[in-house]
Amino acid sequence: MDVFGTASERMELSNRVDFERFYRKALRGPREKNLLAKAFKGLHSDELVVDTCCGLGEDLMRLRALFSRVVGIERNPFLARLLQKAQRHFSLGGVEIIEGEAKAYDGPGRVFYMDPMYPLGPRQKSLAKRPLELLKKICGPDGDQVELLEALLDKKPRRVVVKRPLKARPLLGERVKFTLEGKLIRFDIY
Ligand SMILES: C[S@@+](CC[C@H](N)C(=O)[O-])C[C@H]1O[C@@H](n2cnc3c(N)ncnc32)[C@H](O)[C@@H]1O
Repeated sequence: MDVFGTASERMELSNRVDFERFYRKALRGPREKNLLAKAFKGLHSDELVVDTCCGLGEDLMRLRALFSRVVGIERNPFLARLLQKAQRHFSLGGVEIIEGEAKAYDGPGRVFYMDPMYPLGPRQKSLAKRPLELLKKICGPDGDQVELLEALLDKKPRRVVVKRPLKARPLLGERVKFTLEGKLIRFDIY
C-alpha cells in the first residue's frame, strides 16, 4: 500500500474530490428510488450523521443532501487533506472533516455510515471506476472492518448503515436488523 500514491495519481484524485459536483448529483433523481435514503429512512433531517469511511466524499455529499449536518472521517492523510480543502470550498456548510481513525471517534452523533473497501467481484471489476481503483491502491483493503463496526455498535447507536457487495456475507450477520438490495451493492442496517 502506498498512502500517498504517485504524483500523477495524487493529481488525479485531487481533481476528483469536488463536493459541489457530488452534492448537485446527489440532489438529482427521485428520492423514493434512492437506496441510501431508504437506508436512513425515519431519521430526522437534523440528525448528525457520521461517515466513518469518507474516501472521496461522494457518499458524504449524498448524506449531506439528506441531513443538515455530517461529519466525515478519513484516516488516509492525503485524502483527508483533500477532503478538508473541498470542505473549505463548499458553500453549503454543515460539513466537518476529521483526519483520523474512526474506531477512536468519540465526538457527537449516534447515526453512522460505513463504506470500507471490499474485494471486487468479476462484474463489479468490469464496472469499477478509476477513482475506486486509485482509492484501493492508496488505502489498501481496510482489513479492520469488523472491528470498526463493533466499535460503532458499542456506542449504542441509533443506526449503523454498512455498504456491502451484493453477495458478500454481512460483517456481523447475527446483528443485522434488515438489508436493502440494489443492483450491485447492498446496505446492511444495524
Ligand atoms: C471505499 S472508500 C469510501 C468511499 C466513499 N464512500 C466515497 O463515496 O467516496 C473507503 C475509505 O474509508 C477509509 N477508511 C476505512 N476504514 C477507516 C477507518 N477505520 N477510519 C477512517 N477511515 C477509514 C479508507 O481510507 C478509504 O478512504
